Amino acid sequence: MTAPVVSLAAVSKRYGRGADALLALDQVSLAVHKGEFVCLLGASGCGKSTLLSLVAGLDEISGGTLDIDGRRVSLMFQEAALFPWLTVSGNVELALRLRGVGRAERRRRAAELLDVVRLTGFADKRPHELSGGMRQRVALARSLAQDADVLLMDEPFGALDAMTRDILHDELERIWREQNLTVLFVTHNVREAVRLGDRVVLLSSRPGRVISDFEVGHPRPRRIDSAEVAELAATITDRLRAEVSRHAH
Ligand SMILES: Nc1ncnc2c1ncn2[C@@H]1O[C@H](COP(=O)(O)OP(=O)(O)OP(=O)(O)O)[C@@H](O)[C@H]1O
Ligand SMILES: [Mg+2]
Repeated sequence: MTAPVVSLAAVSKRYGRGADALLALDQVSLAVHKGEFVCLLGASGCGKSTLLSLVAGLDEISGGTLDIDGRRVSLMFQEAALFPWLTVSGNVELALRLRGVGRAERRRRAAELLDVVRLTGFADKRPHELSGGMRQRVALARSLAQDADVLLMDEPFGALDAMTRDILHDELERIWREQNLTVLFVTHNVREAVRLGDRVVLLSSRPGRVISDFEVGHPRPRRIDSAEVAELAATITDRLRAEVSRHAH
């Protein structure tokens, strides 16, 4: 097998020092291979966002080793975090500008990306004129504008209604396949993880450690309400429940 594009070996992350120090991640080992779609599940506060910020290079590890194999990584935050004073196109173009892409090419590429996320015709709107689902699509287009090989997504669809979320699952799956991306996707939603992931990795409650790694063998595209997704989701939910109650005692 080829070398992983993201590899964590016994990674720990500690916030603060001395008596106030908080161990957020404890000896996390995880390898994600090129083209893989890996979903990360765990209780609130177990260190999922911390893990993504370490992989994105926004923060430093406290121990272990982290290797991203020289890949370009882009992080899509939980909230769309668009600039309200910029248009839809302007938000996407900004990511291109930061990469040094020239003006004409920025326009062209932004239009292309808005097409990919099915927002053609909304380029000149401002974020407040869009629905929540449309704002998430802009955030996705902006993430894609970074031309990353590795897409890190932190509960990107958590706040959406089920119908919009289903549509975005289909679109994300299409983009992932067409662009041969590697995705690390954080969610609270077990069914969403099984709908999307090649693997579903479970983290323990704080400090986060990897406690299980499920392969999802079902053929794609999967339906979130299918019996096979529900069945594996139930198994994973039981495992998560056991972890949360173990932690509560
Ligand atoms: N910058 C920071 N400084 C200090 N502590 C932090 C910082 N960021 C996160 N933490 C702590 O690290 C732990 C893990 O936080 P993190 O945001 O990674 O959790 P999470 O798994 O993403 O939770 P959620 O599912 O609620 O988003 C929490 O206890 C949090 O208080
Ligand atoms: Mg988080």
